[in-house]
Amino acid sequence: MKNKIQDLEKKIAEAQLGGGAKRIESQHKKGKLTARERLHFLMDEGTFEEIGMLVTHRSTEFGLEREKYLGDGVVTGYGKINGRLTYVFSQDFTVFGGSLSETHAEKICKIMDLAMQNGAPVIGLNDSGGARIQEGVVSLGGYADIFYRNTLASGVVPQLSAIMGPCAGGAVYSPAITDFIMMVENTSYMFVTGPNVVKTVTHEEVTSEELGGASTHSTKSGVTHFSCANEIECINNIKALLSYMPQNCEDDAPSVAYESNGNEKRPDLNNIIPENPNQPYDMRDVINGVIDADSFLEVHKNFAENIVVGFARLAGKSIGIVANQPAFLAGVLDINSSTKAARFVRFCDSFNIPLLVFEDVPGFLPGTDQEWHGIITNGAKLLYAFCEATVPRVTVITRKAYGGAYDVMNSKHIGADMNYAWPSAEIAVMGAKGAVEIIFKGAADLKKKEEDYIEHFANPYRAAERGYVDEVIKPEDTREKLIKAFDMLKNKVAKLPKKKHGNIPL
Ligand code: HXC
Repeated sequence: MKNKIQDLEKKIAEAQLGGGAKRIESQHKKGKLTARERLHFLMDEGTFEEIGMLVTHRSTEFGLEREKYLGDGVVTGYGKINGRLTYVFSQDFTVFGGSLSETHAEKICKIMDLAMQNGAPVIGLNDSGGARIQEGVVSLGGYADIFYRNTLASGVVPQLSAIMGPCAGGAVYSPAITDFIMMVENTSYMFVTGPNVVKTVTHEEVTSEELGGASTHSTKSGVTHFSCANEIECINNIKALLSYMPQNCEDDAPSVAYESNGNEKRPDLNNIIPENPNQPYDMRDVINGVIDADSFLEVHKNFAENIVVGFARLAGKSIGIVANQPAFLAGVLDINSSTKAARFVRFCDSFNIPLLVFEDVPGFLPGTDQEWHGIITNGAKLLYAFCEATVPRVTVITRKAYGGAYDVMNSKHIGADMNYAWPSAEIAVMGAKGAVEIIFKGAADLKKKEEDYIEHFANPYRAAERGYVDEVIKPEDTREKLIKAFDMLKNKVAKLPKKKHGNIPL
């Protein structure tokens, strides 16, 4: 027995080394951690249990039968993150560049199946040269097996992807189906075709970083939700993000202990809205003034900045926030902000996270660029996402709620549960100037008419008379009102009509 145990220990030691000391050194020189080091920082100490450490590939092509590494380029298993069960795979770039073989894919699928059956999140740490070139279609099949599971798991358990190295070709589509992507600056990239193919096809000269680095995808394409300065920041972001999410779609959103000191008034909120309605202010000041201190985790921070989305805690409970941002493009809704917010709303609704909306929106962005790129279809995504959401939904109109955007931004009419307005709210078809220029075209006393219109419509009271706004509140009372409202709504039951699935305007 002693010899046999020594044998096993030898194998375990061999597996720990992945592709060997030289390749580990090369990984470190690139400023990257190894697959196992990443897991060490991600999982609670001593909780990680590996599955499939001794798996090897089955390929006999191109001399591969002579080159085998225990684990075959991916470390898979389960453990705890902040004390909660989590399944994880971590690709090992030191083994065939982390490329995906048939067995590598099988290992990932195995933990995804376990995650689905046991109702816990899946985290993927991606660092891979893509399909294992020597294996051909078998590897492509392996990817498709993963994509299929990603799709089935969507809305059942949270799925998070960290990109910590190359991620190219069809391999990008697994992270794309998952709920959140984070990338590490300067050491990771994602693209469907790399710079060489781009140059051949379109004659564009572009570096990997420009084409698909963290900065590109966090600002231009919106493919990644987080851009992280380094791998440790990336791992800490994963842990923070998970802390707002339930384990699965049957579970409630988590909460942390909260004890009120009996005073939830926040007088500073009275001073945020400028006297001049055309002057911007930072909606983050409103958000941070209302939620529990330091609890805001902003998602998609540098993409479509005219809308702010993210997780927060209110009296200890997880909520999702969607807020127009008057400090950027006056908070107008456009294609990118609509799709950004729609995706976030759908995530929160999938996982029972109540939604809080702060509204200050002058309408949809006009222009040929927006129309030709489909603001109609894309704006409809946000409308559809809110209409469909059955979680508790509360809106606070801080200033403008104009036109179609009033309807879209979680209005009473599309199923919001509680709608508040500050006295500074202006709920109207459009701004006063535009309105009088249309209805009193050519009139001499346009200025006077504009003042009349402002007095009549640029306030929350017409909407309150109709019950479209449940209450006009002082800004300083917002936190208290919201805590009570979400508590009142905590047992909400709302069901959609029986259907196979809806047809969101994609
Ligand atoms: C097998 C691979 C590999 C791959 C890298 N390696 N990619 N082995 N299949 N796809 C191996 C290398 O041979 C090398 O082995 C080791 O990994 C490290 O690779 P290097 O090239 O030395 O590293 P680096 O210079 O950092 O470059 C990394 C890289 C480059 C940019 C990822 O290796 C590369 O371009 N690889 C090919 C990428 C690719 O075209 N993949 C297919 C994409 S299509 P040794 O023994 O020297 O350590 C695809 C389709 C999926 O993925 C479709 C799904 C629907």
